[in-house]
Amino acid sequence: MAKAYFGRRYMLSASHRLHSESLSDAENRATYGKCNNPHGHNYVIEVLVGGEVDRETGMVVNMATLDETVQEHVLARFDHTNLNCDALFVNQVPTTENLTKVVFDVLKQALPAGKLEYVRVEETENNFFEFRG
Ligand code: NI
Repeated sequence: MAKAYFGRRYMLSASHRLHSESLSDAENRATYGKCNNPHGHNYVIEVLVGGEVDRETGMVVNMATLDETVQEHVLARFDHTNLNCDALFVNQVPTTENLTKVVFDVLKQALPAGKLEYVRVEETENNFFEFRG
């Protein structure tokens, strides 16, 4: 099957504190440095979907459907929140690795089957993370 790909970017502002319950306070400071303090990021969430171009619509995934899905399942849940307080981060440190994986898992459930290729999250100008399932 010849595949086409469509990517779109979304902004997400949230705070987190990198702190593992299985480490001592001193180990947490040694592991996470200043990221052990609460702080925030303006994340850029990049979503790539792929698949056959629908003959009727000429699209891979309808952009409105993608926007609604990301809005409902990701932005409404995480934008302007403290990630540490979300149920999905109760048992895992809200690093951007884990945020990327959580966003991928949530969108995979919500989007049409087989369409989600990857989620990429830019944390700063110099850091990015990617999860492909
Ligand atoms: Ni951070």
